[in-house]
Amino acid sequence: MPTISLQGQVALVTGASSGIGTGVAKALGDAGATVVVNYSRSAKGAEATVAEIKAAGGEAIAIQADVSQEDQVIRMFQQIFDTYGTIDILINNAGLQKDSPFPDMTLEDWNTVIGINLTGQFLCAREAVKEFIRRGVVLERSCAAGKIICISSVHEVIPWAGHCNYAASKGGVMLLMKSMAQELAPYKIRINSIGPGAIKTPINRNAWETAEAEAKLLRLIPYNRVGEAEDIGKATVWLASDESDYVHGVTLFVDGGMTLYPEFAHGG
Ligand code: BGC
Repeated sequence: MPTISLQGQVALVTGASSGIGTGVAKALGDAGATVVVNYSRSAKGAEATVAEIKAAGGEAIAIQADVSQEDQVIRMFQQIFDTYGTIDILINNAGLQKDSPFPDMTLEDWNTVIGINLTGQFLCAREAVKEFIRRGVVLERSCAAGKIICISSVHEVIPWAGHCNYAASKGGVMLLMKSMAQELAPYKIRINSIGPGAIKTPINRNAWETAEAEAKLLRLIPYNRVGEAEDIGKATVWLASDESDYVHGVTLFVDGGMTLYPEFAHGG
């Protein structure tokens, strides 16, 4: 039995048809939240997430929207309000990589990554914040008027050659999160990020799929294991709950120590 309860709260998880999003959606469902499983392309993946939440005794629906498109985001929030009346928790998770050496990076790949990873977080946060301000605190639900958790990355602080668009998007998420946190605290809207390290998901399959690749990856992880989506799910439940009510405007790295400059354990 989970010890933290999010019973009675409505949570939207963007990009929840696979990877970290699925792990987070399931963890929120297990904690009693009603979960809106957003997806862009994989209806099948989203339906599977919804089915798993329901099989575990939870409540969930899938809603399609490309978070980089303003009209689609507004429509998704309207659907949430029509179905559940309000929203309490936003998990800004949708994200992707379009990697290439810098000189070869196309404007299209740059715009796609910034559009989904950064603009998407802005658009979803804006709609959630409007509702949090309208509704205010309802103590039976939470002592905050609303919670936003931005799923960022260790690459909001670790530069990443060959991934300039991705690292730029996550660096942007960091200051978007902190600036929103500063501005919106007076409304009792609590905003933080989670910075995952290497988590076993489709986005980085080639970094852990073979024993060789995994051994190479582990050199960057002092805690010596590659993370699982559940690791992010557990941290998210805590950060979304009143157990962390005084935690505001920070990034919680869930990375097995990847941000500790592991190379310096043997040098410097
Ligand atoms: C990236 C993964 C990578 C991890 C650690 C994540 O943000 O999406 O591909 O394995 O950071 O470098």
